[in-house]
Amino acid sequence: MPKDKLKIHFATTNRSKFLEAQSVMKEYGIRLIFLGKKGLEIQSDNLEEIAKQSAIASSTDMRISTIAEDAGLFIDPLRGFPGPYSSFVFRTLGCDGILKLLKGSHNRKARFVSAVAYCDPLHLPICFSAVSEGFVGTGTRGTSGFGFDPIFIPLENGKKTFAEMSSIEKNRYSHRARAFRKFGKWSIRSKP
Ligand code: IMP
Repeated sequence: MPKDKLKIHFATTNRSKFLEAQSVMKEYGIRLIFLGKKGLEIQSDNLEEIAKQSAIASSTDMRISTIAEDAGLFIDPLRGFPGPYSSFVFRTLGCDGILKLLKGSHNRKARFVSAVAYCDPLHLPICFSAVSEGFVGTGTRGTSGFGFDPIFIPLENGKKTFAEMSSIEKNRYSHRARAFRKFGKWSIRSKP
């Protein structure tokens, strides 16, 4: 339960992620602070486990309430690849590598999943997950955002990639915004 509800550190080095989450947290009166580092990440194929362990590590190390997030892109015709390995695959293959793997594939269904874990030094972590269903486009489009944003088109919009949206628009459909909203709602319910 976030006792110091108004101020929570986000253990991430990714400023784009932080800005997206910060604007969602404002809706719940929570001041999210950019930590600029993250707790040691375990290797696992379970996003929730990775996020929880990372939140525990940073919260214990620094004796503060922290949030950690782990996200990934799961592509149906690639049987869920890259999933939990998205960060490595983005660094090695990038958007173009994924497009090559999908060349000629009619099935381009994919989903982003986000797991947001909250932990304070006195309690076990709690985790909220959410999904953005969509598909992988046939080329890269747009310059906003980060990571696989230029190739992912959320179903509910059906036209624009995340990289062609403002962060406010991306937050309407994104896995991250949805997971952070679940956390925001929980933090209001569990207000002391
Ligand atoms: P992370 O381990 O949570 O930082 O995410 C793993 C990788 O997934 C990132 O390096 C990005 O390449 C990709 N990713 C996660 N969330 C998003 C998103 O919202 N847009 C685009 N790519 C994302």
